[in-house]
Amino acid sequence: GRFDEPFRPQYHFSPPSQWMNDPNGMVYHAGEYHLFYQHYPDSNVWGPMHWGHAVSKDLVHWEHLPIAIAPDSLGWIFSGSAVLDETNSSGLGTADNPPLVAIYTYHDPVGAEAGREDYQTQGIAYSTDGGRNWTKYAGNPVLENPGIRDFRDPKVAWIGERWIMSLAVKDRIRFYSSDNLLEWTYESDFQPEWAAYGGVWECPDLFPLTTPEGEEKWILFVSINPGGPNGGSATQYFVGDFDGSTFTSESDQVKWLDYGADNYAGVTWSNVPKSDGRRLFIGWMSNWTYANVVPTENWRSANTLPRELALVRQGETYRVRSSPVAELEKLRKSSSTKEGDSWAIDAELAELLLFPEAGDFSLELSNDAGERIILAKKGDQLTFDRSQSGVTGFSEAFTALHTAPLHGMEVTELRVFLDRSSVEIFVNQGALVLSEIVFPEQPYSRIRLTGFKSSHQVHELASIW
Ligand code: FRU
Repeated sequence: GRFDEPFRPQYHFSPPSQWMNDPNGMVYHAGEYHLFYQHYPDSNVWGPMHWGHAVSKDLVHWEHLPIAIAPDSLGWIFSGSAVLDETNSSGLGTADNPPLVAIYTYHDPVGAEAGREDYQTQGIAYSTDGGRNWTKYAGNPVLENPGIRDFRDPKVAWIGERWIMSLAVKDRIRFYSSDNLLEWTYESDFQPEWAAYGGVWECPDLFPLTTPEGEEKWILFVSINPGGPNGGSATQYFVGDFDGSTFTSESDQVKWLDYGADNYAGVTWSNVPKSDGRRLFIGWMSNWTYANVVPTENWRSANTLPRELALVRQGETYRVRSSPVAELEKLRKSSSTKEGDSWAIDAELAELLLFPEAGDFSLELSNDAGERIILAKKGDQLTFDRSQSGVTGFSEAFTALHTAPLHGMEVTELRVFLDRSSVEIFVNQGALVLSEIVFPEQPYSRIRLTGFKSSHQVHELASIW
């Protein structure tokens, strides 16, 4: 059938063919969630970037559309965002038919090759037909490069009375403001001493979330590569305040969105209706350490499950919780209750609900080929072992043991999503998450548990293709 190759994700988004990295330009408009992505249509490894495109009515089922934005004389099309310009502030649409505006990075490969510093600039394209056709703005670039080699990934949002752009600038986030999306004014730099600087800063996102007590906080996501807590790429975030010009973090603790190795460059949807009110996120489910060599051929990479973000209090500090969007429950085909510590998982696509006892536990998923993954709690830490998960020989780093701190949190619930080449583990409704890709030769069909309550739930899930 369609999209039925070995390792092809069955309910995660993947490109129809060839290379994909970061999700880009996510915007909700006229009943559709748009998803664009870094795409090289001529090869299954990274190269001249385009924006691939898909739409969904429910964040779960996706319709692939033609490539939206292709390279031109200013360069390749790197990551960025999209907004609905509701008041037609840009003048690129009309008052009656406001435009969708995409803001992205031009990466000029010729300038890069020649050793110049200023080869990344920001450009825009717009659509007045619901995102089907995109026209590049004649005045591109809209933001010139001041002479800094890493100057990219604009995330634009309407904040207060104007547009704010968060831009990744080598080892800091730089904020710009604009009244019309075409002219940008420098506001401030965010670069606290104590943040994680193991690699270049990429793909920022700035948005508000409300605390359980009803107070608004501003969240800043910053993807960093390398320098993640479990090697390679990962996303750190800051909780604090944005005063319309400057972001301030309220604590000086490095926080990570995901302790799996495979959730990178994720950002949130813009223009989600107020009546919905959710902050919706999707990430690229891979890691630059091995993304180009994972054992798939027709396509490379998938996205994480779409997630809803919320703030939870943990001790003295707030953390971002990410939980699977409710729409995913539509994928449940049949549900069963399992008893005891060892049982068969008779579905390749499955969602497991497991309840640990207080104390340490371990959970092993295995198949008849002797392949296995192991999640364990030891004291105040979780470990995830994929060293014998299946095909691993493509990268030495892939087999490293992953660890995640619990910060004193008692684990009461594990929700585990199994697809053909990934496992996502949501601890306590997403207070801690591990997103991990794996390449088993056959589905994990057995589970063995130590330290769990006796009754468990399994949902068999449907393919979206
Ligand atoms: C992040 C990233 C971005 C860049 C894009 C290029 O994964 O490196 O900074 O815009 O990928 O494809």
